[in-house]
Amino acid sequence: IPVEPFDLVIFGGTGDLARRKILPALFRRFCAGQMRGDERVIGAARAEMSTKDYRAFARAAITEFDDNDACAAEHLDGFLRQLSYVALDARSDAGWAELGAALRKGRIRAFYFSVGPGLFGDLAERLYQWKLADAQSRIVVEKPFGRDLDSARALNATLAQHFDEAQIYRIDHYLGKETVQNLMAIRFGNTLFEPLWNSQYVDHIQITVAESVGVGTRGEYYDRSGAMRDMMQNHMMQLLCLTAMEPPAKFDPAAVRDEKLKVIRALDPMTPENIVRGQYEGADGRPAYRDQVEAPDSRTETFVALKARVGNWRWAGTPFYMRTGKRLKARASEIAVVFKDAPHSIFGADAGHHRNILTIRLQPNEGIELGVTIKEPGPGGMRLIDVPLDMSFAEALGPDSDDFPDAYERLIMDVIRGDQTLFMRGDEVEAAWEWTDPIIESWQEAGDDPLLYATGSSGPDDALALIHRDGRRWREIRP
Ligand code: BG6
Repeated sequence: IPVEPFDLVIFGGTGDLARRKILPALFRRFCAGQMRGDERVIGAARAEMSTKDYRAFARAAITEFDDNDACAAEHLDGFLRQLSYVALDARSDAGWAELGAALRKGRIRAFYFSVGPGLFGDLAERLYQWKLADAQSRIVVEKPFGRDLDSARALNATLAQHFDEAQIYRIDHYLGKETVQNLMAIRFGNTLFEPLWNSQYVDHIQITVAESVGVGTRGEYYDRSGAMRDMMQNHMMQLLCLTAMEPPAKFDPAAVRDEKLKVIRALDPMTPENIVRGQYEGADGRPAYRDQVEAPDSRTETFVALKARVGNWRWAGTPFYMRTGKRLKARASEIAVVFKDAPHSIFGADAGHHRNILTIRLQPNEGIELGVTIKEPGPGGMRLIDVPLDMSFAEALGPDSDDFPDAYERLIMDVIRGDQTLFMRGDEVEAAWEWTDPIIESWQEAGDDPLLYATGSSGPDDALALIHRDGRRWREIRP
């Protein structure tokens, strides 16, 4: 179903995010028929550039980052005709009148702030001064939303001067991932899981977001951030919230975000023995982290593993083990819910330990796997084995099902539809910083180095010890 007619302005329209994600995502929605064909997509940035050159820039970006050649052959020219470019400066009046002239009345206006947070205030102020935004307009902002609680509060306050919370769409692209939304469908669309979804039946939960790549060319940004700010405060925290939250009364923005906020607020403060941070070493011609950034003695962490506790009635006694890192064994992200052993084994000691594990695989190969215990086939008596009731979406849903929309496609269309459910509310972001700030501060105070780990490993040994000492083990990181 096509969305309402809209005009979208991409501030930072020549930047990396526009090139890699925003423009290809818009094009794919165009191909899918979700746009009517009379939208305006206006790239805006400081560089002087003609609309013709901007279209060439977009063509190159889409050709590089979208692999649907058939669609490109048919629709790319039509899509590019909707694009235009305005050179403007967020810190002066240059270009703003031209931008105003490029927008049409009576349409939804969305302004994508694909720029550093240092410019959010300037952009919001100019939009207001030039009367380019009305009560229907939306602004979209990217992470990092601040680098600590104070800066996040300041950003929220700046945006709030000219925009209501209902107009502000803070992107966490993990919320746009298909399986992340499926986590809610599984929990709240089935009767099977929710009655067991608590500390009485769940032994522990593991959340892993492992990457095999290093920081690449993003060293400058990353070295000021580290895994805690780059992944834990936002993406990992959101996964934790969706796994741990109470059932919202409705699938609507207020209800869902209220429940997520309660989870963050229920987190026990972190203690040093429950967190491990690491930094990758080089191997086989791949440089060590410290050789990829300006500071040869950088203490920035590229890996974090921690044991969190959600201090509420539902989760008392069930730890959440979370880990994320770069240059690990494989690119593999999953949420694993490990259920408790059956209360009594009628099969005797020989039958061994068996437990059900529900795994929600985010990437690659999205799907759900439920480990069940069955009898080992054959005449050897009652011996038990664990087998997966495996359902990869691609198999279950047919040949087109691996053609999931990318997170940005879903999220940008949600902005146009005015649905904030999958976006972070200001208070959620602040609460997440409130929990992470003391962790980062304690590292700074301690002034010690992160533990080194080998490229292609599962992280530092201490991360293994973190879970082993509780008599549990991490699931293997594998593609
Ligand atoms: C980004 C981080 O938000 O998420 C990157 O800044 C990280 O460091 C990326 O690589 C991971 O996203 P995805 O979708 O590839 O898992």
